[in-house]
Amino acid sequence: MKAKQMAGERAVEYVKDGMIVGLGTGSTAYWTIQKIAQKVKEGLDIRAIPTSRETKKLAEELDIPLVSLAEVKHIDLTIDGADEVNRDLNLIKGGGGALVREKIVAFASKKLIIVVDQSKMVDALGTFPLPVEIVHFGANQTLFNLEKLKCQAKLRREDEEIFNSDNDNYIVDCQFGQIEAPEQLNTIINNMPGVVESGLFVEMTDMVIVGNNQGEVSILK
Ligand code: A5P
Repeated sequence: MKAKQMAGERAVEYVKDGMIVGLGTGSTAYWTIQKIAQKVKEGLDIRAIPTSRETKKLAEELDIPLVSLAEVKHIDLTIDGADEVNRDLNLIKGGGGALVREKIVAFASKKLIIVVDQSKMVDALGTFPLPVEIVHFGANQTLFNLEKLKCQAKLRREDEEIFNSDNDNYIVDCQFGQIEAPEQLNTIINNMPGVVESGLFVEMTDMVIVGNNQGEVSILK
């Protein structure tokens, strides 16, 4: 079994009857969603909140009962992937462009479990370009302001077209190399006009489940 599948499926052990569950986005969360769907077919009684259109589509195809965030006071547990995880369990997310919905759902959750393969574990965040979601108006100005933070900032494109998020915003990928103080950087970026949200998830994670190619899983808390 592949590392992402191992990690993604293991997290489902923490999903219990009656829970409101946040469903993450990406190729690792995919395995979590598949496993949840299997358990729902076997009688697991949950309602789920997807973090992207892609995940919503998958959950609907798999007949996982969904509920909107507007209808619930809180989420019991969210299981999601990440692009980088450091030793303090701080994260870079948004490689797939779903960072805003992912962060809103994670913030509303009592518990956040992150599922990754070994390659995502790093000493310091920042090798993976930090995704930042920005509004269309004044996008060039926002990009210049991000570059002032000493990163290489690039407007994300997909097949030559500028990438648009599920919230109809742009994503800027900011190559920092090494992020010394994630919390501080997150605050600075989020205070910038035009920025919707940064892909830094600081002090939000309760548990990280890491799968490796030997078929083993380790749990970090
Ligand atoms: C989506 O926007 C991201 O935050 C994903 O959760 C992240 O990119 C991890 O994706 P994979 O599990 O596909 O690597």
